[in-house]
Amino acid sequence: MKSKVLIAGASGMVGRALVNELEKNKNIKLLKPTRDEVNYLNYIEVENYFKKNKPDYVYIVAAKVGGILANSQNKIEFFEDNQIIQINLFKCIQKFKVKKSVFLGSSCIYPKTAEQPIKENQLLNGRLEETNEGYALAKISGVRLARYYKEKYSTNIICPMMCNIYGTNDNFDFGDSHVLSALVRRFIEAKDFQKKNVLLWGSGSPKREFIHVSDAAKSLIFLMEKYNEVEPINVGSGYDLSIKDLAHKISKIVGYTGEIDWDKTKPDGVPRKLLDISKLNELGFKSVIGLDEGIKKTVKEFRDLKRKNSEIYSNNKHSKNSKNNAKNKDVYNISHSNQINKNYWYPLSLPTYDDKEVKQALDSMKNFKTTMWDKTLRFEKKFSKKVKSKYSVMVNSGSSSDLLMSFSLIDKNLKLLKPGDEVIIPILTWPTHIWSAMMAGLKVRLVDVDINTLNIDLNELKKNISKKTKAIFIVHALGNPCNMDEVNRIAKKNNLLILEDCCEALGSKYGGKFVGNFGLAGSYSFFFSHHITTMEGGMIVTNDKKIFQNLKYLRSHGWKRDISLKKKPPEKKIYKKFEFVNWGFNVRPTELQAGFGIEQLKKLNKFNSKRKKYFEIFKRNFKNNSNIYFPKVEKKSNPSWFSIPIIFRKNSGLNREKFIEFLEKKGIESRPIIVGNLTRHPVAKTFKEFKEKKFPNADYIHKNGLYIGLNPMISEFLFKKMIDTIKSYFKN
Ligand SMILES: Cc1ncc(COP(=O)(O)O)c(C=O)c1O
Repeated sequence: MKSKVLIAGASGMVGRALVNELEKNKNIKLLKPTRDEVNYLNYIEVENYFKKNKPDYVYIVAAKVGGILANSQNKIEFFEDNQIIQINLFKCIQKFKVKKSVFLGSSCIYPKTAEQPIKENQLLNGRLEETNEGYALAKISGVRLARYYKEKYSTNIICPMMCNIYGTNDNFDFGDSHVLSALVRRFIEAKDFQKKNVLLWGSGSPKREFIHVSDAAKSLIFLMEKYNEVEPINVGSGYDLSIKDLAHKISKIVGYTGEIDWDKTKPDGVPRKLLDISKLNELGFKSVIGLDEGIKKTVKEFRDLKRKNSEIYSNNKHSKNSKNNAKNKDVYNISHSNQINKNYWYPLSLPTYDDKEVKQALDSMKNFKTTMWDKTLRFEKKFSKKVKSKYSVMVNSGSSSDLLMSFSLIDKNLKLLKPGDEVIIPILTWPTHIWSAMMAGLKVRLVDVDINTLNIDLNELKKNISKKTKAIFIVHALGNPCNMDEVNRIAKKNNLLILEDCCEALGSKYGGKFVGNFGLAGSYSFFFSHHITTMEGGMIVTNDKKIFQNLKYLRSHGWKRDISLKKKPPEKKIYKKFEFVNWGFNVRPTELQAGFGIEQLKKLNKFNSKRKKYFEIFKRNFKNNSNIYFPKVEKKSNPSWFSIPIIFRKNSGLNREKFIEFLEKKGIESRPIIVGNLTRHPVAKTFKEFKEKKFPNADYIHKNGLYIGLNPMISEFLFKKMIDTIKSYFKN
């Protein structure tokens, strides 16, 4: 029987190199779960995975890692996450009787002043380097914990201590990359943009030792077979060089001819950390990829990645390499590091899609199925399942969703309302939400919002209901659900229909129920910056079959033919397929959008938990700031936040325009809360609906509020940098 080998952290740089090596071995069954399959920070998930898969051997290469900058600014996360990951894994390794495990250690956990070259017995022999103390303490605990498990349960966990690993699949993102990959990117971009000089961190004098990731992976496999001691064992190349020499080496390989300057105000880290690898050599292991060769490989890989990305974004069919790349399965390997917004390092939105979505779209084009077809139907079904609505109808935008919902109200077949009937809509919303009802011939009565929740003011709602009022068309602003018990009660008492605009609220729940399920229908938007994106796109959900059918006619010309209807018996009359049963629009999505939706939906939970986490971190950091307030959340609401609103309190004395100027200067993008008070926009002059009354609360938000982005793709490092930047504004 094949041995089962688990790589915990299979998607990281070392994990992928291990997969590459171990896949060559036909006698093992590789287990390489993605982060979506097992979150090593969550014990229940880890235990369930071990229970189900029962690995015989485990490589623990999952860890929170980063360079000096990320480490020094995120000590808590480096400490906590690494502790939790190793504790969860060790527990399961013992509980499920794993035969042997390899737990990755690092040279940077040895004392700052350790004797060089560093022998294994130097661990815990002195003070640690401050910049990465959080990470080091966590990893040292892991090495000790491995010893305790061995002593108490004879659990076999060995601890190789690695020097700096670099190479294939390295992280090139500024902010949390390691020194070698950061330098490669710096010099390549400096050359491409013909920069005269490159400024590097520190003095350049610290010395470092490097091992190529493919050698590192081979060493781990070698040690899994050959090493069983409880003492850690060093893994390195046996040679180090100064960062200055490394920078010159890389710049030469890249072909950069400008100046290299050093910013000596920045920390250097440990002066030297060359490992003594005699123990490893005695066992018979030697790394084979020299530093020059490894750097050349890395430079080529980064250049390839950049070219592939620019080809896929620019769709440059004349590129001389595009033919070859089309055959290369990695051609869709999109790196978000290419998506740096030049003006803002903290933008309102960032792309959340990758090669999977792009492949779906290309697949539709290759198969000549680009107009609405089976992928749309599949996405609709999956969406219904996700938000627990009976029916879903996809359209080309959130605005089209609102439009069709409004036209369903006045539809001649459904006979719900008549043109001229009154519908109440909150003023703080996206304009097309209001236009949709006006275009359907309904009389729109606008109502102010609650200054605390940003949602419709329930007292205003009650006051504005008259005999003519037939429906309420609410919005869950910024993902914060309205008080649906109260809205339902008011609607019931006054015999009103409810429609919900959930365009900013995918994943939000009230009383455990997804928004969109409280009235006749609910609309969603999949615009680029929303919870999921189909580039442009929208969805209408409903639990009413008649409305569902009607929406389909409205979506597609009033045409009876709709691919999502079940197979019917062959038509008797010729041209029966071209029968029109209603009026309608053409707001159909393409299959490319539906393909995007299918992939994005798989990521929704992950995106939303990141949104939630970031929102909470932001809130925690500003909860004692008396200048601003956050929207009140109803007791039964569970919001899936859309963005981070910042609203000045009445007595703060602060000026929103000055704050916006500050954000712009610092590189943080901001915008109004939705569109602020729509009556202040030029379009309000055109329609009498906006002239009937004033909206003091929306006006207050217009003048004192703004929002910044809340994107799951932003790194924790940049998110915290944004928090610190905004904090500095309030300090001054
Ligand atoms: C509340 C609300 N309704 C409707 C829409 C319209 O969606 P779309 O941009 O997909 O047309 C938006 C867009 O952001 C929105 O925020």
